Amino acid sequence: MDREPRAEVRATIHEHLAWWGLKRFTSDADYFVWQRKQLSPADLTQLNAQIDRKRGGERRDEVAFYDLTTQPLMLPVLYSQRYEYYCEIGSHVAARFGNANSILDFGCGVGILSTFYATQYADRQFVGVDRSPASIAVAREKARKLGLTNIRFECVDVESENLAGAYDLIVATHALVQAEQDPGIPSHSWQTFERARDAKQQAAFEQRTGIGIRLDRLRASLAREGRMIVSEKTRQLARRVPFQRALAGRGLQPVEAPKPIHYQLVEEVADDGPFYVLGRGAPQQFQWDESPEPDAGGPFDRNNLKTDSTDPDAPLYENHWPSAQRVWEKLHDTHLLKETTNQGPDGRQLHVELGQAEEGVYLYCANTLDQRQLVIVEPARMVMLESYYQEIASSVL
Ligand SMILES: C[S@@+](CC[C@H](N)C(=O)[O-])C[C@H]1O[C@@H](n2cnc3c(N)ncnc32)[C@H](O)[C@@H]1O
Repeated sequence: MDREPRAEVRATIHEHLAWWGLKRFTSDADYFVWQRKQLSPADLTQLNAQIDRKRGGERRDEVAFYDLTTQPLMLPVLYSQRYEYYCEIGSHVAARFGNANSILDFGCGVGILSTFYATQYADRQFVGVDRSPASIAVAREKARKLGLTNIRFECVDVESENLAGAYDLIVATHALVQAEQDPGIPSHSWQTFERARDAKQQAAFEQRTGIGIRLDRLRASLAREGRMIVSEKTRQLARRVPFQRALAGRGLQPVEAPKPIHYQLVEEVADDGPFYVLGRGAPQQFQWDESPEPDAGGPFDRNNLKTDSTDPDAPLYENHWPSAQRVWEKLHDTHLLKETTNQGPDGRQLHVELGQAEEGVYLYCANTLDQRQLVIVEPARMVMLESYYQEIASSVL
C-alpha cells in the first residue's frame, strides 16, 4: 500500500478544489478582503450567530450550521478556509485505498473530499453519508455535474440510524469527535500525564461527545478484513487518550504508526490528528501513544541559564510545555517555599508552587489537563514570581 501522497495526487486536489470554487490564500488579509467581497454584512452576521449556536453542541444547531454553509455564496468562502486541510487529508487518504472496493465516507459534508476520492478511483464504489440534508443535496448535485457514477450520497444520522452494508474501508475525517469544546479526560493528578483506566469516565466521554454510538455503528459496517481511516481534532492528550481507548475498545488497532497532521488554516496553524489507519481485529503492531506530544520547550542547560535578553524582567529560564515537568523534576537542591493545589468538583486539579533551587527561584504550575509551566528567575526577582503565585493559587476550578 502506498504511504506517502504522490505529487500528482496533490496536483489533482488543487484542480478539484478549484472546480468546487475554492481559493487558496497565502495571506489572511487577502482572504478577508475576498470574504467581504463575496458575503454581505448580513450574511456574515447570520453565519457568526450560527457558529456561536453550534458551539453549544446541540444537534439541531450543528445541522443548521452545516446546512447554512451550503448556500451558493457561502460554500466557497467558508470551505476555502479549509483549503490546506483538504490537501493534507485528501492526499493522505487517497494514498491508502489499497484494494478496498467499497468505501464509506462518514460525515462527508458537501462531499468535497468524497468526490475527489471517487474521481481518483473510478473503479471503486463510494458512499458518502451525512446528517445535514442540504449538504447531501449539494453533494449529489456536484457528483452529477462531475459525471460520477461510482458514488452515492445518503442523508443519515448515525446517532439514530444503523448504516446499511459492509465496507472494505471507512473514512471519517473531522466527523467523529464533533464536540470541539469538550476538554476530554483529565489525568489522575497534576503530577502525571497518565489517565486512570476508569470505565465510567470513558463511557461518560463517549456518551457526551457522541463518539461511542458513532463508532459502534461504523464498526458494525466494517467488513471483516476492513480498514478504517480516522483523523480528528484529538491531538491534545486529554482528548487523544479517550479517543484512542474508544477505538481500541472496539477492536480497532493501528496498522501503521499514527502521525500528527499539520496544516495552515485562515488565522491559525492547525496541529491536529493524529491520522490513524486502523484494522479490525488486526494484530497489535503499533502501540497506542499516551505520552504528551513532543513540544517546543527550550533546552535546559543549568550551567548557562542567563538569557541574552536586554529585558531586566526576562526570566533565566521559561518553559510553557509539558517538558517543563521533566526540568522541574531535575532541579537541584530544591526548597519549597509555598504550594497550593486547587481541586474542582469534577476532580480536576491545579497545582502551583514557589521554591528555591540551586538554579534560582522558581514557579511551577501544573494541571490535570496537561498544562505545565516553569519559570526560573534570579533570587532578587522573587517578588514577581510571588505575585504570579498568588494569582494562580487564588483561581477557582
Ligand atoms: C467538519 S465536517 C467534515 C466534513 C468532511 N468529512 C471533511 O473532512 O471536510 C463534519 C460533518 O460530519 C457530519 N456529522 C456529524 N455527526 C454526524 C452523524 N451523527 N451522522 C452523520 N453525519 C454527521 C456533519 O453534518 C458535518 O457535515
